[in-house]
Amino acid sequence: MTGRVSMQEREPTPPAPVAPLPPAVASPTAARRPRRAVLAVALVLVVVALLATGLAVAYGIERTSGDRAQPAVPTVPAPTVSRPPALRDLMPPTVRVGSAADGRGMSLDAGYRELLGSEFDAITPENAMKWANLEPSPDVYTWAGADQLVGFAEQHDQSVYGHTLLGRTDVPRWVDPQWSADQLRAVLRDHVTAVVSRYRGRVWAWDVINEALDEDGSLRDTLWLRKLGPGYIGEMFRWAHAADPGARLFINDYGVEGRTRKADALLELVRELRRAGVPVDGVGFQSHLRWDERPRDMVGNLRRFAKLGVSVAITELDVRIALPETAAKRERQAALYRQVLQACLAVPACVSFTVWGFTDARSWIPGYHPGYGAACIFDAALVPKPAHVALMDQLRRIPSPTGAGPGPG
Ligand code: XIL
Repeated sequence: MTGRVSMQEREPTPPAPVAPLPPAVASPTAARRPRRAVLAVALVLVVVALLATGLAVAYGIERTSGDRAQPAVPTVPAPTVSRPPALRDLMPPTVRVGSAADGRGMSLDAGYRELLGSEFDAITPENAMKWANLEPSPDVYTWAGADQLVGFAEQHDQSVYGHTLLGRTDVPRWVDPQWSADQLRAVLRDHVTAVVSRYRGRVWAWDVINEALDEDGSLRDTLWLRKLGPGYIGEMFRWAHAADPGARLFINDYGVEGRTRKADALLELVRELRRAGVPVDGVGFQSHLRWDERPRDMVGNLRRFAKLGVSVAITELDVRIALPETAAKRERQAALYRQVLQACLAVPACVSFTVWGFTDARSWIPGYHPGYGAACIFDAALVPKPAHVALMDQLRRIPSPTGAGPGPG
């Protein structure tokens, strides 16, 4: 019942007491006429005074000792500025809707911050939590960027999806490949423990390891695999779990959204890890897609992972367009965004749907995929694109829990 008005409170307030009428005059004699006139005037004055008081209350004005009308302290909360519904308003409560966030955008651009705060209920730090950025030299941590993002999320009632404890491109240069296995294990363990402990209770999920598999599904040939052997993956999950037992721990990769050879291999890896008692809670599907492709049987693919008992998440969705951008390409892009959302909504184990940046003004795509761009759901001027319209439309089609037609909208 919190926040609800009780029936009693909702009843209309009783009418204001009316001034008692003067006693009825029995005999309209001439002598009594002046007295009646006085009474009539008095009655009119009383009624006028009551009306004025009523109006004053209705308009929130009260008289002060100085006889000057002043605005009263409002007793009714001011109406909130109405804005069109956002993704976070329509997404089912079991699914977080997130975006990767760019630190520079956050500190510089008010429009960016406004959309990030209102449209999404989760944030993934795009780069701020990568190892090389957090620990540029041994034991010297620069938390400012990550702290800023976590603080922003908390102010806007958003969850933080931590990305990533180990990636393939963001290991600091000072990590020396010549070190012994014991030394390497110690720096990796210290890093995982330091970062997860710092944000214990404030990060709801972590990408513990990112892109652990190669294109063909074999374990990626990294320093860690070579020196520590395949057991390093399970060890990382155990260290992270020890540092924050409440955080959900994910393994995240690309090229696994549809039924691919790599997805088959990831499925087996997760099965083995779970069998060995490794605390893997979820699998992240990056979903960096091209406008003219379609992942094969994404729903079936997500479902087979869910059958292992893990959550699944769309973690980095964007749909890059081969430039130049045209209206027709935007429409196909929108259809693909919709398809990925449909897949997530079709699988109860899907706990979040995250885009890799929301505006074409700040997407990583042009820098990393030459010839491509316009991959996001808002254009560079922060205007919603057909992709955003399609996502909203898809969310409006969700039947309401009462079965009384489409949900909120
Ligand atoms: C990208 C960022 O978006 C860029 O800003 C950065 O320069 C390189 O990394 N998969 C991932 C992300 O897991 O960490 C990558 O992010 C995009 C691909």
